[in-house]
Amino acid sequence: MALVDDIRSIEQEALERIGQAGSLESLRDLSVQYLGKKGKLTAVLKSLGALPIDERKLVGAEANRVRVALEQRLEAAEALLAVAAGPSVDPTLPGTGPYIGAVHIINQVMGEICGIFHGMGFEIAHGPHIETDHYNFEALNFAPDHPARDEHDTFFVEGGRLLRTHTTPVQARELEKRTPPMKILMPGRTFRHEDVSTRSHISFHQVDGFLVDKGVSVADLKGTLNAFCKAFFGEDVKLRFRPSYFPFTEPSAEVDVSCFLCHGKGCQLCKYAGWLEILGSGMIHPNVLRMAGHDPDVYSGFAFGMGVERPAILKYRINDIRLFFNNNLRFLRQFV
Ligand code: DAH
Repeated sequence: MALVDDIRSIEQEALERIGQAGSLESLRDLSVQYLGKKGKLTAVLKSLGALPIDERKLVGAEANRVRVALEQRLEAAEALLAVAAGPSVDPTLPGTGPYIGAVHIINQVMGEICGIFHGMGFEIAHGPHIETDHYNFEALNFAPDHPARDEHDTFFVEGGRLLRTHTTPVQARELEKRTPPMKILMPGRTFRHEDVSTRSHISFHQVDGFLVDKGVSVADLKGTLNAFCKAFFGEDVKLRFRPSYFPFTEPSAEVDVSCFLCHGKGCQLCKYAGWLEILGSGMIHPNVLRMAGHDPDVYSGFAFGMGVERPAILKYRINDIRLFFNNNLRFLRQFV
């Protein structure tokens, strides 16, 4: 059949020319020449009307097959040329891997602290960020006009409530809920109305802990904090307990560790003191136990609390606390 032969030779010719085309422009020309309104294949299709019906079917099917084949070949050739014309790739350069999310450095440090105390049998408890005056202050033995409230520059919110200024209110809540013995660790976010600077922020993190049982003594407190500091800062750190004051503990002590950088000799990190201030601690005040419904003549306990940003700053030599909060990935990725 003459027409079918014509179509096949048109196909042969077109495929050959597409194979040789060196530019997108010449491909577009070929598309017009064969498949356009006045194209060679279109002309064959147009002449179909003059054929008897069964011949028309046969030739029409063949012409359509060739049209589809040419369209596909043109598309493939175009794609090849586009790749060749694209930016050159140096396959010897290392690739850029996908960015994978990671735990924030503050959560990593909190996790490390929790892990150490968990290993000593402490349970984890959480409390609300928006607190009542009762749990943030009163249940912790801060009377309404207690001067120690001034140290906690407080954000007040609607309904007489406040943003917790420390994680110690969780101690008051847990003490009330449970019966001794109890051994609890309370990590979380805290808030104070402070000027934001390189050293202080309105939002930071703390970890509090406490233990209540019969016959708990200062020796238990010292042993526990000693074990923690060695695990966290290094086996060779020494601890120093300095008398201090907190309304919710009596006696109270602040705990310093010997500088883990200079080992107590004095350096820039410890400001030549040889010691780094890390923790507040003490024996739980009888009033606090009593308010939570425990008889201080039967039970006693110790408590401690520490900031998270400060040890992180010391451990990783970070010079600005704001870096923890402004989500600069160049900073955060260092700790992945
Ligand atoms: N809540 C205290 C603060 O924010 C820290 C603290 C000191 C917590 C002694 C305690 C503690 O549980 O016993 O300054």
